[in-house]
Amino acid sequence: MNLSGKRIVVGITGGIAAYKTIEFIRLLRKAEAEVRVVLTPAAEEFVTPLTLQAISGHAVSQSLLDPQAELAMGHIELAKWAQAIVIAPASADFIARFSVGMANDLLSTLCLATSSPIFLAPAMNQQMFAQQITQQNLTALQERGVVLIGPNSGFQACGDVGAGRMSEPEEILTALSDFFYQDQDLQGLNVAITAGPTREPIDPVRYISNYSSGKMGFALAEAFAKRGANVTLISGPVNLISPKNVNRINVISAQEMWHIALESAVKNHIFIGCAAVADYRVAKVGEQKIKKSEAEMQLKLIKNPDIIADVGHLEEKRPFTVGFAAETQHVADYAKDKLQRKNLDMICANDVSNGQVFNAEENALQLFWKGGSKILALKSKKELAADLVDEIIEQYRKTSSFLTAL
Ligand code: PMT
Repeated sequence: MNLSGKRIVVGITGGIAAYKTIEFIRLLRKAEAEVRVVLTPAAEEFVTPLTLQAISGHAVSQSLLDPQAELAMGHIELAKWAQAIVIAPASADFIARFSVGMANDLLSTLCLATSSPIFLAPAMNQQMFAQQITQQNLTALQERGVVLIGPNSGFQACGDVGAGRMSEPEEILTALSDFFYQDQDLQGLNVAITAGPTREPIDPVRYISNYSSGKMGFALAEAFAKRGANVTLISGPVNLISPKNVNRINVISAQEMWHIALESAVKNHIFIGCAAVADYRVAKVGEQKIKKSEAEMQLKLIKNPDIIADVGHLEEKRPFTVGFAAETQHVADYAKDKLQRKNLDMICANDVSNGQVFNAEENALQLFWKGGSKILALKSKKELAADLVDEIIEQYRKTSSFLTAL
């Protein structure tokens, strides 16, 4: 990645994720960016100015009222110098102060004084992140043009599990690089993507589902949207924030997903089935909570419609159709069989044995199409998605003149 000569201010607020920002700054320097670091007083409890000075190559700015620092580069000068300000981690407290326009420390003052883009990588306890007030503050900031990076979901330092983990340093770097080198080459292209699991109800309080988190499908939606495509994201129940510029439609069950997907498919140039759709649903859903009176119980399951196969076999307005295959054995053979049986243009096979891929941050894929194949090596799902978009577009161009006509 190349950010040669780009002038970046990295703001660090108080949070345990601050240790990851050291690696982010190292990556920025490796990408040849010019970096200045600003610490809030709370951040100093987590990382030292000395470490950050060594990593960034410059003295760290800490106080608004420091005459020495103001002599070196005053805060207004720093706000003008920055081509982008990245705040990582962005704590709930900082987000709240920033959202109401406070300027009570150096970092919040810089944010008010700059006309450059500001990126926030929030990091906090999942409950704090889910709070309505935090969400309102983030929405207000996004409406003012602030770009959100993450957060990710998963295990947190406090022991909780949920959304609130700071994005990985590579993800923050990718977001920044995308901003500087936006290529909107897919404008006018319509893409529908299914993502996440489906839930098949047993009774009003129970359901059958799987471990899909939606991360792979959301990463793909984001990667297409960044290149200017019009993306419809048909999502099962997941705990993820919608990517920017994506039209998200939430569904619960496979049947619901089938209805929306078939309706969307004919309006799109490309259809991608990344969802882990439940193959079966319960034949007779209990109207009331089923009581545990018997030692054993049996559930009769019936087959759900196969969404991607129905799209692949459309006789009119059939989009370029890409499926995924999640396999624990004979990955390539089973995937190639699905490519043919479901009448797909491409299939992306992932080896999900040993608990890999589902809900993980990384993935690797084997792609197959009629007459070709390619391996995409293990990467973060976001990076992998960007590569996959390139591959899908390359194959799509062979079947359609739409993009060449753009
Ligand atoms: O969501 P993540 O945690 O990030 O995990 C990503 C993933 C593992 C879910 C994703 O990479 C993936 O592999 N998705 C497809 C999972 C799956 O259900 O595979 P399958 O081999 O069972 O299905 C093959 C294809 O048929 C898929 O495109 C699937 O969307 C589609 N299908 C399956 C059943 C069905 N009733 N309708 C379908 O459209």
